[in-house]
Amino acid sequence: MILPGVERPGVEAFARRKREGTPIVMATAYDFATARLVDAAGLDAILVGDSLGMVVLGHDDTLSVTVDDIVHHARAVRRAATHTMMIADMPALSYESPEQAVANARRLLEEGGADAIKLEGGMRMATTVRTLVAAGIPVQGHIGLTPQQVRALGGWRVQGRTAEDATLILADARALEEAGCFSIVIECVPALVAAHVTSSLQIPTIGIGAGPDTSGQVLVLHDLLGLTPDPLPRFVKRFADMTTVAIDALTRYREEVLTRAYPAAEHVYDMQEAEWRRFLHQSSDGGTPMNRDELKGKGEQLKGRAKQAVGDLTNDEQMRNEGAADEVRGEVQEGFGRARRKIGEKVEEIGERLKD
Ligand code: KIV
Repeated sequence: MILPGVERPGVEAFARRKREGTPIVMATAYDFATARLVDAAGLDAILVGDSLGMVVLGHDDTLSVTVDDIVHHARAVRRAATHTMMIADMPALSYESPEQAVANARRLLEEGGADAIKLEGGMRMATTVRTLVAAGIPVQGHIGLTPQQVRALGGWRVQGRTAEDATLILADARALEEAGCFSIVIECVPALVAAHVTSSLQIPTIGIGAGPDTSGQVLVLHDLLGLTPDPLPRFVKRFADMTTVAIDALTRYREEVLTRAYPAAEHVYDMQEAEWRRFLHQSSDGGTPMNRDELKGKGEQLKGRAKQAVGDLTNDEQMRNEGAADEVRGEVQEGFGRARRKIGEKVEEIGERLKD
């Protein structure tokens, strides 16, 4: 999905940033609304990660995410990510052979609109990476804690803490660079190991739980915005507490609907009095229908009674008083409307008599 007239940084921007020593900033996003935020904040790349399965779809791990899922979400992200590079994750079991990897990666690029794909695994993925790159598909590697192997790794734990494990991580990184990856995500490894790997490679590394000395950082958007519950991994920093903000907004919405404070006059569409009367005449069954003052007055009384009920429940004297005042105001308005209707009926009656 090419967006006409839009210039976005590509994989070459990653290499340039490493050369310049400027950190690369990435976050995940899975839909249009959140991708728009990431795009507006000027991050370098959005990852449509298979963390989708946990963060958005509510699974315990990433294993049930499918290529169709990533394509579906990537398309939404692409519509918002007009300035930001978009990398899409290859889900578990979608790259078991080089041929399968190429077919599924093409779907992520052609149907999902991704600029590049990411896959998990080091040395064992070298042939697949080589095949993808030869097919013109930019590949980001992912080593260290690879969530698709979480069961084989014995859980969500830091990798590369022994000299032997750190040596394997370095070998994985070298194999991916040699196979043609344009960058490598390093997840949950000691900072010293990540720094050493980074300085051993030409291509940039993107850390997540890998300390400050990688070529860039990536975080799961919902973690950094404070939309995921505790406990969070040590490496996550919450840059906002959106959960509190969102629950507070929803609570106020609920309260205002209950007390009929929302929708208020400024949220309501009006109608010309003449059209309203014509409508009432067309739909009435003979008697003169209620006019706007009567209807609005009735609404105000309902709102007042609801406020009083909530005031009684929460022992809120001010709410009770406001409700009583609304009710009285409603009665007055309804009475005024009723009087207007009676006068209208009388005028009509006199008119009819004069005709006779
Ligand atoms: O799926 C994902 O969000 C990821 C990041 C954790 C790097 O792979």
